[in-house]
Amino acid sequence: MLETKIAPSILAGNFSCIGEEVERLTANGADLVHCDVMDGNFVPPITFGAQMVESIRPHTALGLDCHLMVARPETQIESFARAGADIISIHVEACGKNTVRLMRKIKEWGVRACAVVNPETPVERLFDTVEEADMLLVMSVHPGWGGQKFIAGTYEKLRKLRAFCIANGKEEMDIEVDGGVTSQNVKEIVAAGANVIVAGSAVFRSVDMRGTIAELRGE
Ligand code: DX5
Ligand code: ZN
Repeated sequence: MLETKIAPSILAGNFSCIGEEVERLTANGADLVHCDVMDGNFVPPITFGAQMVESIRPHTALGLDCHLMVARPETQIESFARAGADIISIHVEACGKNTVRLMRKIKEWGVRACAVVNPETPVERLFDTVEEADMLLVMSVHPGWGGQKFIAGTYEKLRKLRAFCIANGKEEMDIEVDGGVTSQNVKEIVAAGANVIVAGSAVFRSVDMRGTIAELRGE
């Protein structure tokens, strides 16, 4: 059984003191820090770029899981790698045929590479990336905003993806899910095949951050 890892998204944190927010996540048992990068183009909102990742880097020893919701990820790989990203996730909708090539480029920087599909994109689009991938991400909400409802069709996508990874000798593949995860639906999500769980609102709106992270991890 793969270990379940919790990656709280700082998107739901207070941007005026993000270093402290990252320290709070670290002290309360998070496994990774999920950084939602939005460019106002691939998705309507704008959040932050590599400079933010560089600023939070000294505040935690946890891996920085950088989810690039940007129209031209190829222009960002070097700056995120230099800023201290541990994982860089790129959308197949933004990269098209270049997805695998860009994942190789990410890995040349010594950073783990992840490919992402949006809710309306068939999960089969990730199959070609499995050989190169260190992680695969299935969006369970439309990217751009926190606090949305988990899209039920994601369960079937996770099952298909886990089955494909197992059939191709990648039993240990990290499969991440992002959006609308709560303590209520997390068990079903993990049962469907995800083992890296992004949670923004569930973690930051909780009065007991440590308890919520542990509960999401299934403890
Ligand atoms: C959506 C982001 C998510 C978001 C998740 O575009 O990629 O990471 O922060 O937030 P919740 O957990 O609130 O759905
Ligand atoms: Zn995200």
